[in-house]
Amino acid sequence: MAVERTLTILKPDCVRKNLIGEVTKRIQEAGFKIVAMKMTKLTEDTAGGFYAVHKERPFFGELVEFMSSGPCVPMILEKENAIADFRELIGATNPEEADEGTIRADFADSVGENIVHGSDSVENGKIEANYFFAESEVVANKA
Ligand code: TYD
Repeated sequence: MAVERTLTILKPDCVRKNLIGEVTKRIQEAGFKIVAMKMTKLTEDTAGGFYAVHKERPFFGELVEFMSSGPCVPMILEKENAIADFRELIGATNPEEADEGTIRADFADSVGENIVHGSDSVENGKIEANYFFAESEVVANKA
């Protein structure tokens, strides 16, 4: 299987609930290598740009408000089959539909506040990684 990268964000609810350590531990124990990581607070523009694909959806306003409501922790993760494996680790978008033992099933309150983001394709993973990190911030890219 090919080594892939995925972009995750520990969302503002994850940070507010003091779950950065717990969620990061699960990610690492599942075999993902963190190759870039930072804490940042998104502006409404940055959050809206990240989720631009959802611009016309009824939940877009709330999503932007939530994602810019406090600090978050974007990371680039590397692993064989990272895209699909990470989606499996976090569970369905709606925590009520997420499999038992997944991060969203265990920690998320609602579909809107669901603890973590995970890229849905290798292509989008690259675009999303570039949205948050300069080449020089990706440790694994450095000599
Ligand atoms: P989406 O890309 O469909 O899900 P995922 O995060 O699992 O890739 O949606 C992006 C985010 O938009 C989702 O994490 C939370 C928010 N959202 C809502 O608030 N309500 C909704 O009905 C949906 C589908 C998403």
